[in-house]
Amino acid sequence: MKKLFTLALAAFFLFVGSLRADEGMWIPMLLSKYNIANMQAKGLKLSAEDIYSVNQASLKDAIVIFGGGCTGELISDKGLLITNHHCGFRQIQQHSSTEHDYLTNGFWAMNQGEELTNPGLKVTFLVRMDDVTERILGVITKKMSEADRNNAINAEIRKITAEATQGNHYQASVKPFFSGNQYFMFVQEVFTDVRLVGAPPSAIGKFGGDTDNWMWPRHTGDFSIFRIYANKEGKPATYSEENVPLKPKKHFPISLKGVKKGDFTMVFGYPGSTQEYIPSFAIDMYQNVEYPHRIALRKQKLDIINAAMNADPAVRIQYAAKQAGIANSWKKWIGVIRGLKRLDAINKKQAFETEFDQWVSTTEEYQMAYGKLLSDYEKLYKEYSKYNLAYAYFIETAYYQDVLRFARSVQKHTGGMQPSEKIQENLRASAKGFYKDYHQPTDKAIFAAMIKAYYENMEAEFKPEFFGYVTSKFNNDFEAFAEDIYTRSVLVDADKFEKAVLAYNTTDADVFKNDPMLNIYSEFLDTYRSKTATKLDGFREELRLLDRLYMRAQMEMDSERVFYPDANFTLRLTYGQVDDYRPRNAVHYDYYSTLKGIMEKDNPEIYDYDVPDQLRVLFDEKDYGQFGENGEMHVCFIASNHTSGGNSGSPVINGNGELIGVNFDRNWEGTMSDIMYDPSQCRNITLDIRYALFIIDKFAGAGWLLDEMTLVK
Ligand code: ARG
Ligand code: GLU
Repeated sequence: MKKLFTLALAAFFLFVGSLRADEGMWIPMLLSKYNIANMQAKGLKLSAEDIYSVNQASLKDAIVIFGGGCTGELISDKGLLITNHHCGFRQIQQHSSTEHDYLTNGFWAMNQGEELTNPGLKVTFLVRMDDVTERILGVITKKMSEADRNNAINAEIRKITAEATQGNHYQASVKPFFSGNQYFMFVQEVFTDVRLVGAPPSAIGKFGGDTDNWMWPRHTGDFSIFRIYANKEGKPATYSEENVPLKPKKHFPISLKGVKKGDFTMVFGYPGSTQEYIPSFAIDMYQNVEYPHRIALRKQKLDIINAAMNADPAVRIQYAAKQAGIANSWKKWIGVIRGLKRLDAINKKQAFETEFDQWVSTTEEYQMAYGKLLSDYEKLYKEYSKYNLAYAYFIETAYYQDVLRFARSVQKHTGGMQPSEKIQENLRASAKGFYKDYHQPTDKAIFAAMIKAYYENMEAEFKPEFFGYVTSKFNNDFEAFAEDIYTRSVLVDADKFEKAVLAYNTTDADVFKNDPMLNIYSEFLDTYRSKTATKLDGFREELRLLDRLYMRAQMEMDSERVFYPDANFTLRLTYGQVDDYRPRNAVHYDYYSTLKGIMEKDNPEIYDYDVPDQLRVLFDEKDYGQFGENGEMHVCFIASNHTSGGNSGSPVINGNGELIGVNFDRNWEGTMSDIMYDPSQCRNITLDIRYALFIIDKFAGAGWLLDEMTLVK
């Protein structure tokens, strides 16, 4: 009797425990085992098989990886796909010029013939996933060194993926879960003919811009529409006029019913990376070293870019995508630091570590396995932090910094190679892409600022030789130094570059070898390789081992708990409910926003808040048709789904499996959820699907697209 009672009590706590928080990004093929009962208790009407199945069409068949870092979902049986505006941003921008400014004015194909092709863009379906842990862990032994272990694992992965792709057109990959304690294989089908169908003007699709980015309340119509094409057999094919719209196994019906507070919601997509199980030392490094430096560097870049964009509409188009990328993480990190501090994350982890130590001390076996874990971590992070910062500076100042990044590609083409026509061609091709979005004065100002910041913040050992020259010749006047380099380098000007490409194969094979910008890049790279990279490799290898042990130990310590693995850009399901929150003392945020809020923000003087006239007219006339709710047009809503970067564009789904919105962001107060989740503060931000339909139909007059969708009234 007593035993029964404790069992019931344990079950009760398990249940309550999992009801309390909506934390977790779950593995689709394990839903029936771990989650489905809880999901159904919260309002889901579907079965686990309806969501993920290898035997029948299921929701997973309507979901793709869009490009390299977003999610998208199918919304018609003719291959129509919806994702975020910011996910299709590069494509929209690449089709834009001052003559056809699709960024500003939007783009709408009025029939399939008008859809625009996007070389390089792909979408990836998940065919199936398999647990391959036994096979992978079967090839290793306890005695293996980390390096041998990796080799053995990689060899087995090659075998497994070769078997899975034998005789078919699929791709396969194996990814570690729980820091390498489990392994899953993913078999995927990749389509490469993906055409742009429609995008609202940025004043809708990016409404609020960086001012509102990562924030709630939000009013962004963050969506764009694409179509997947296949060959006549329905198989992937590169672009061809002969291709036909893909007939997917599954597409989402779209609900016009809207959401209420407390409604069940789930998000099914590709969260990129989280670190929920790291020790306090790691959080300390991010919160107090890496992020503050990165924030400061990006702030300098943004100040320069923003001023240039405001001064010149051509630069605004050229730098739109670069700026958005730089600003996005910059603002997120600010939010993460605040969130971690507010949660007192380091102290919470330390408290956990004390508990952990106590648990370890309970048996000799634990002591043997885990006794040194935390002190090893502490030692490692003390050293690692310095090199991690050097890495961050290398990335921010050189590796991803416009002209130096171009230098990298020039070097790749020319370094150690005999000049040839083929190389000339390649150089011209990469120059074409680069100079289209290049503005020399902006780039020069950023270059000077970054080199200066590098000089001031990096220890001598990390400084490439050319810094000596900046001191001796320019007395550390970084602008004068930049001026000198920009006068002499052929990389900073399209015409000079073309002349050099010509000379390269005829009169001057060394034209690139002697270029000062290329030399700066090479010095950066050499210094990074010799001083930072080898060290980092060592640290990271050690970290992989520690993380694997620590993860295993945490799971052993709390063996009743169902753990979810950190995000690793594989398909995950997260569920929660539509919910409001209280961000600060005396402040309450409602769970949805409406078009009225757009009009409140409306201000033609502020670029981010300049509402299109036509939208104003629709608002004045309250012409919302079947998309309105009680005379209002809902725009966005929030819910407690645990999402991350990569979930952009993910379907937000109701209990019936219908699409109610498109995920596009998180609230600022909740951005630390990649490291520590707080149910009272963490919300994902969703575009209400009805607003997207309203824009397509009433604003853009592209109602032909609605005709192919399955609308549920
Ligand atoms: N914060 C969102 C995400 O992480 C949207 C980013 C695009 N918007 C922007 N203003 N940069 O992707
Ligand atoms: N905007 C993010 C993305 O591109 C999603 C927001 C988040 O990080 O949760 O994936």
